[in-house]
Amino acid sequence: MRSLLQISLLASTILLATTGIASPDAQQQFVADSKKMIKALATDLKHTMRTAVRSGGFEQAVSACQIQAPLIKQSHNQESDLEIKRTSLKWRNPNNSPDDWERQVLLAFEQKKQAGVSIKQLHHSEVIKTDTGLEYRFMKAIPIKSVCLKCHGDESQIAAPVATALKQQYPLDNATQFKLGDIRGAFSVRKTVGR
Ligand code: HEC
Repeated sequence: MRSLLQISLLASTILLATTGIASPDAQQQFVADSKKMIKALATDLKHTMRTAVRSGGFEQAVSACQIQAPLIKQSHNQESDLEIKRTSLKWRNPNNSPDDWERQVLLAFEQKKQAGVSIKQLHHSEVIKTDTGLEYRFMKAIPIKSVCLKCHGDESQIAAPVATALKQQYPLDNATQFKLGDIRGAFSVRKTVGR
């Protein structure tokens, strides 16, 4: 019995090594690392936003988001072999638009929310096969809180100077008209293996 087990363990190890099939352990580790990275990025973004609002109000914070958000994302990407971004079905910056896989996950999040699942519980991980290898993916939904409506709400919630700044800096902006409790989008993390 024992040797049979050993042989089958060895066989599955070889299979993993030669075919590049993702091991559950590696996927679990990836999910844990992704959650950590998301927390760190979310904290940095919150801090940047708070500082900007305090110094120059929401109008100033628009510029801070425009300049800082991509830079902060970049700095987190340089720290590890994981890549992180924020994405949404209704994006403000075209660089944050979802790829096909992200769009499917965002649509599934919307369906689950409709079915009564809380946004806090909405996350999804998957290992995707690509032409060149494997890609580990993880997404976690981001809820709309009341402060977000100052820049992502409707005309009555977005102050005129903020609306002007948004129009100037994001002519393709599609990230308004959100309501409290909506899904704003998601953090999306990926790691490529075997390239
Ligand atoms: C001061 C205005 C302002 C506030 C307040 C604000 N945002 Fe944004 N948000 C922006 C700007 C500007 C961008 C575009 C950043 C960029 O260029 O990458 C953005 C982009 C995003 C994105 C990336 C996807 C996209 O649409 O490009 C997400 C997700 C997001 N915001 C979520 C939130 C959440 C959640 C809150 C509340 C906790 C919030 N925002 C509050 C201005 C704001």
